[in-house]
Amino acid sequence: MRKVRVAVVGYGQIGPVHVRSYKKHEDKVEVTVVVDLLEERRKSAQEQFGIKDVAADYNEVLKRDDIDAVSVCIPTYQHHDLVLAAARHGKHVFCEKPMCMSMEDAYEMEEVCKKAGVKLQLGFVRRYDNQWLKFKEIVKSGTVGKPVVWRSASAGYGAPSTWFFQRELGGGPFLDGAVHNYDFGNYMFGKVAYVSAHGSTIQPDRTGVDTGIAEVVYESGDRLQLMWSWGLKRGVRGGSVHDVLGQEGALVFNAPNKNPLTSENPDVQYLTVNRENGIEEPFAYDRNDMFADQMGDFIDTIIQDKEPKVSAKHGQEALKVGLSLLKSFETGKSVFL
Ligand SMILES: NC(=O)c1ccc[n+]([C@@H]2O[C@H](COP(=O)([O-])OP(=O)(O)OC[C@H]3O[C@@H](n4cnc5c(N)ncnc54)[C@H](O)[C@@H]3O)[C@@H](O)[C@H]2O)c1
Repeated sequence: MRKVRVAVVGYGQIGPVHVRSYKKHEDKVEVTVVVDLLEERRKSAQEQFGIKDVAADYNEVLKRDDIDAVSVCIPTYQHHDLVLAAARHGKHVFCEKPMCMSMEDAYEMEEVCKKAGVKLQLGFVRRYDNQWLKFKEIVKSGTVGKPVVWRSASAGYGAPSTWFFQRELGGGPFLDGAVHNYDFGNYMFGKVAYVSAHGSTIQPDRTGVDTGIAEVVYESGDRLQLMWSWGLKRGVRGGSVHDVLGQEGALVFNAPNKNPLTSENPDVQYLTVNRENGIEEPFAYDRNDMFADQMGDFIDTIIQDKEPKVSAKHGQEALKVGLSLLKSFETGKSVFL
């Protein structure tokens, strides 16, 4: 059987991760071409991974018969146009998160891919990460109690390009970064009841909120609380918290991943639940390469003609949470979904 031939469009931060991950499945996929507007990035793709064919204009690449699928790794505000163009040329699509910048665009992307009969998979890579899957298993099993409060606090520079911080282009940390959390919250807790947020912008060259507090409340009674900032200068880091609190204990996400039994196998890692009287209960998982597993599954989805594990619906549901939070920042009011 011939290999699936992929064009990776965008070679900034995430494009090289896609190429590296496809390379781990060389029996079934080849990266035929890398596309980027910038010459130095095209050159990097050639030097880093020996990609022979590079191009600057994705419209030209989409016309080619020797491309079966496209990895969408360009800035979020351009996802919609590229996904539509790829689908209309009959190419399967892997689209990075967040899906796009509006619900209308997100529904159109799904519709056009469906009509064209091509796959549309979204880049919520945590759904392939054994650490996050173990996290979900512990929370869902009621080990720390039900309902729970999932807390996440972090502060840093955030993202490498300026578009990330603009309200209409990337949406800032509460859309671009935290959309992973919204998707995982939807996966663990189900439907969102309402969201609320307050924030500000520390760095003057930005149109989006770069520092704030957001809460997502689920119909199940579970809550996700985020206190995030991308408002610091490059290289400056603030403190961080990542845990899940419940009646029965606290799941500490970024506890040292020591193996309390053998401490010898680096592929076995642990999450810890802290319990009454200082008891620490370890939960083991096997470390995996989530990006390689994600891209491999996308290729299997094409070859086996199955439904994408992470679909347009997942993209839309997570986007809805993010956009509702941006609205809450702007209005100062809770937004009911
Ligand atoms: N899954 C993840 O964990 C993850 C991580 C990082 C980024 N992302 C997402 O991936 C997307 C890209 O992010 P990034 O961090 O790689 O951005 P980036 O700014 O680092 O890189 C984007 C690249 O796209 C190129 N580009 C822009 N417009 C183009 C066009 N029309 N045609 C061809 N090339 C073009 C730029 O020159 C640049 O090299 C975003 O949606 C982002 O949210 C996902």
